[in-house]
This record gives sequence, C-alpha cells and structure tokens, in this order.
Amino acid sequence: MAKEKTYFFCQECGYESAKWLGKCPNCGNWNTFAEELAPQKAKNTKAAHLPSVPAKKLTEIDFSEDNRIDTGIAELNRVLGGGLVHGELVLLAGDPGIGKSTLTLQLVATVKLSQTIMYISGEESVGQIKMRAERLGIDKSELLLLCENDMNVITNEIKRYQPKLIILDSIQTVYLPEITSAPGSVSQLRECTNKVMQWAKGWGIATILVGHVTKDGAVAGPRVLEHMVDAVLFFEGERHYQHRVLRSLKNRFGSTNEIGIFEMAEKGLEEVKNPSEAFLSERPLDTAGTIVVPCMEGSRPLLIEVQALVTPSFFGQPRRMTTGCDFNRVTMLMAVLEKRLGLQLSNQDAYVNIVGGLRVDEPAIDLAIAAAIASSFRERAVYRDVVVLGEIGLTGELRQVNHLQRRLSEAEKMGFAKAIVPAGNLPKNHQLAIEIITAKNISEALSFILEG
Ligand code: TYD
Ligand code: MG
Repeated sequence: MAKEKTYFFCQECGYESAKWLGKCPNCGNWNTFAEELAPQKAKNTKAAHLPSVPAKKLTEIDFSEDNRIDTGIAELNRVLGGGLVHGELVLLAGDPGIGKSTLTLQLVATVKLSQTIMYISGEESVGQIKMRAERLGIDKSELLLLCENDMNVITNEIKRYQPKLIILDSIQTVYLPEITSAPGSVSQLRECTNKVMQWAKGWGIATILVGHVTKDGAVAGPRVLEHMVDAVLFFEGERHYQHRVLRSLKNRFGSTNEIGIFEMAEKGLEEVKNPSEAFLSERPLDTAGTIVVPCMEGSRPLLIEVQALVTPSFFGQPRRMTTGCDFNRVTMLMAVLEKRLGLQLSNQDAYVNIVGGLRVDEPAIDLAIAAAIASSFRERAVYRDVVVLGEIGLTGELRQVNHLQRRLSEAEKMGFAKAIVPAGNLPKNHQLAIEIITAKNISEALSFILEG
C-alpha cells in the first residue's frame, strides 16, 4: 500500500514544509511543527479562482451601523462592538463547561432577527438541546436544530433553509469527508473553518463558531484559525465561581478591550448590570490588606478589590504569588516600597489577589497594590470609604492615570467618600461630591491611606 502523503506545518503561523523542522524559519518559534496528511487537490482548479462575489465599487456598498443584528444580550452586544454584523464569523472559545453552549442557546432565543436561525451541534443530541432549551425557557419557531458532524450534509441543509444566523457547536467535532484526518485535527479545523468562511462571506450569514481551548488556554488548533475569523471572543472564569467574563481578543468590527460580565444561575446566564456592586459584595471592612480601586475595562469603569497578605518567610527564598495581576509588576512595587519607604519586605512572603476572578493589567492599579501590601505588612486597615488610584514610577512618584473623572464618578456612585489620586491629575471644574486628595509620591499617598 502506498504511504499517504503528509506534510508539516507550523502551528503558530501556518508555515508549511515538506520535512519536520525544529525551529520555524518564518516566525522563529521552536517545536511548533506538526504533521498532517496532505489535503487532496481539488479536481476543478479553474473554478476555485472565480470569485463567488463580484467586485463592487466602494461607494456602492451600503453598510451602516444599523446593519448590525441586536443579539438581545446587552453585554454580548458590547463585546461585539454593537451587535453581530451580517456575514461576520465569530469564534467563541472557552474551557469546557464554562457556558458556551448555554450562551449561544440564549442568544438564539433573544436575538432580534426574524429570519431562520440554525443551531448546529456536533456534540449533543437534539433531545439534550431541547432539554436545555426547556430549562432556559426557550421556544422559538424560527430556530432549526441540526445534530450533524459531516460538513457536506451541514452545507446542504444550510443551502436548503437559508438561515441568516448559524451557531456551530463546536468546530472541533465537525469534519469534511474529503480529508482523511480525524475531526479536531489541524487540517480538518482549517478546512472546515474555510468552508464556514465561505458560507459566512458568500451568503452573508452571521456565524458563531464554538471552539474549545487547550490546557494552556490557547484555542485548540493552530493560530491560523484565529487569523481566519473576524472576531475571537473568549469566555472565561473559574468554573466554581458564578462570574463569567466575555472578552474579545480580536474584533474586526469593534474594539478589543470591552468585556461583558455574566453570572451563571439556575436558569442560564444572567447579565451583571452593576459589576462594581457584584465585585465588592463580599468585601471585608476594616481589615488590613484590602483596598478598592476604580479601574477601566474598555470604556467602562469598574470598582475592584485588591487584597494582599504579607507574612514572615520561613525559607530562604521568600514566596511571591499573584492572581489576576502581573507578577513582575508586583515584584517591582515591592522593591519600590522597600527602597523608598524602608519597608522590610525582603524577608516576607507576599500574596496579591484581584478579587472576583478578574485580570487587570493597567498600571493605574499600582497604588492599590502597594497600599494593600503596606496595609497588610503594617497590620493597619485602610479607611473603608476610600479608593486609590495611580501608577507608581521607580522613584516612587505617582503618575497620572486616564479617564479620572469616569473612574471617580463610579466610586462616588458606589458610595465612596474619598479618593487619593496623583497630584496634577485633578479633573478640571469637575462636579464630583467625592473628596479628592492629591499625592505626589507613594509615601505621601500611603500616609493618607494608612494614617487617615
Ligand atoms: P455548557 O453551556 O454546556 O458549557 P460549554 O458548552 O462551555 O461546555 O454548560 C456549562 C455549565 O453550566 C454546566 O455544567 C451546567 C451549568 N448550567 C447552569 O448552572 N445553569 C443553567 O441554566 C445551565 C443551562 C447550565
Ligand atoms: Mg457545549
């Protein structure tokens, strides 16, 4: 029997090669080459070069923001940049059990679209989906369910019913019979996504592809999959906590720094309308090592609690651990505290945590991290009605932050009475009732925060 022809390609950038390579000559990554069966050449190559949609003049194309499809879920609309766009291909990725199928099923129930919607599942039976739909209280006549794994059968069904919105759950479970490798393998993923792209772009069908992620958090399959779609949404959160955060990693039709916050409840996912309140609901008052900071997630201010625990270290190398913020940044802030304020932290273990399972990487939370560490180290609770803000430089100076007014009005709305902000960052003629205290450097700020 003749050996089937294979080829190798880089899982990072898609670079193809006839033999295995340790280092990719294109992107320079090591150990990224995987072997795949070579896809068979299409017999009629001439037709493949004909564009399915003829070229159009720019002025003849009518696209306006009103063309967006309202998903009926405000948090999802926000992340998408205002709703789905006709012909848009969205990849929704996340860990198993995080709620991707629940979210997409809720979406088909609430979406403001009168045309046919098709929910294609390669994972669950029609009965299972019906059961879930009943649990979520969904009955919608425009909704067609299809449980199928063969992409050719799926394509025929789509041709027959001409839906305007398709959910494909998940891309790892479908296959093209022309390709001999197993569903979920890289060439299947690539070719299936290609096929889906043809429906979406050629027939103007908004399509949501559900995708699983690998253990280290990447979308399973090559990065090329991310290059092919218009938007990549990541659904994340701790499975044992209620909060789920929907984040966009890529969006050709909107901004990538918006997030949507949901809560998994009895009857499916609920939107969290007031995230600040949700994230502060369990805040311990008058305890050392906790402080609140108004940070920005996209265009939205969000109050979050930063916690720190500093304890004497019993081993040579002190431990440092961070959850939800940058490890190196915390190390740097501890060095600044040690050098500028003389806090003896080099023989202390330190743990820093952003409460609520969020990840915050903006430098505006520096002062809050430093204050939480200093508060825990000195065993002094921070005044409970205060929020702090500011980036810390290496000499201990407090640097300006953006959107100060928006952040402070959110703090005011949540009942905080005082804010400590970098000097020179005071919003001009503001109408805030919150008392604003300015500080030039970390030692000034901490004397307000810890001594009152
Ligand atoms: P699911 O949407 O199937 O996750 P995924 O498709 O990402 O793998 O469901 C996730 C979990 O949510 C499941 O373990 C059960 C739970 N769940 C609820 O708590 N409430 C509900 O109303 C539903 C439908 C699911
Ligand atoms: Mg699922």
